[in-house]
Amino acid sequence: IKKIGVLTGGGDCPGLNAVIRGVTRTAILKYGLEVIGYKFGYKGLYNNDYMPLTLQRVSGIGHIGGTILYSSNKDNLFDYTVEESGKKVKKDVSDVAVQNLNKEKVDALIIIGGDGTLTSARDFARKGVKIIGVPKTIDNDLHATDTTFGFNSAVNVATEALDRLHTTAASHHRVMILEVMGRNAGWIALESGFAGSADVILIPEIEYDIEKIVEKIKDRENRGKLFSIIVVAEGAKPKGGKVVVKKTVDDSPDPIRLGGIGNKLAYDLEKYVNNHEIRCTVLGHTQRGGITSTFDRILATRYGVKAVELLAENRFGNMVSLQGRKMTYVHLENVIGSQKMVDPKGELVETAKSIGISFGD
Ligand code: F6P
Repeated sequence: IKKIGVLTGGGDCPGLNAVIRGVTRTAILKYGLEVIGYKFGYKGLYNNDYMPLTLQRVSGIGHIGGTILYSSNKDNLFDYTVEESGKKVKKDVSDVAVQNLNKEKVDALIIIGGDGTLTSARDFARKGVKIIGVPKTIDNDLHATDTTFGFNSAVNVATEALDRLHTTAASHHRVMILEVMGRNAGWIALESGFAGSADVILIPEIEYDIEKIVEKIKDRENRGKLFSIIVVAEGAKPKGGKVVVKKTVDDSPDPIRLGGIGNKLAYDLEKYVNNHEIRCTVLGHTQRGGITSTFDRILATRYGVKAVELLAENRFGNMVSLQGRKMTYVHLENVIGSQKMVDPKGELVETAKSIGISFGD
């Protein structure tokens, strides 16, 4: 192997730049390889749009969120949207990508992404392309690795928001709701709620009963605590309820349609809680931006370095994986398909319950 390509796919995530830096520095300094970075994920591979990655290019980026390679969401080489005679059609463009790799004499690829990006990476590897995957998502819901980079940074942002909400909640005796990311898995809500001393944590894995939340608020009042903090994952659901959440403002007067589950919860709670004002903060993409946490900088760099080492050892078709404290790898064929969810009966939830945190169940 003489020349490698790197790309970042899917939603951005703190730590992507640290991986790119780790890959580039290891490839050049340890193995004397040439490195290029494809822009906008698979789009760059299809359009042969790339930038050389040199030591200078990756200098000073290790702590910065986002990706210098840019990213695009939901691109799939095997189901790619192209324009043909003015019409958008879906096509398998993987052969074009292979031709582009051959043209540039790129011997192998490091593909950094979440479930969707890695599914395409697996299928591309099946065509004989030499690939190493790197797991990325702030949601921490990939089962084939213990921790994805970006998660710790997102939890830190959410925890800081909870710390800030505490002082303002206490000053006004309010019920404060913080909505965090996590459509399917509630890891960010669980860990930030735990660390940020939330009174109630609502996650997609445990359907909530609004009356249990009201009970918790009243319990606290009886103990002289006249404010409460609720953290809710965007994918949380009321018991038996189907929530239609639309995040764009339209002309509907229904507050459910003016935000996510956090605003719906504030609206619903108002019917039960009339002695406190209720406010909702939606943290949104602040959880994905800014500066990468110390933990994620180290983890992401370890992933990047390991990915190049695997290429150098001809261990293609694998994804780097953290298992316990060990950096290792698993086959791309075994990483896709099932999400790692919070176990409602697991140690973390039980521990949170032991210290009085309610999950609304
Ligand atoms: O998967 C990462 C994630 O940040 C989710 O937590 C969130 O639901 C989603 O992406 C948001 O996607 P977008 O940036 O496309 O709105």
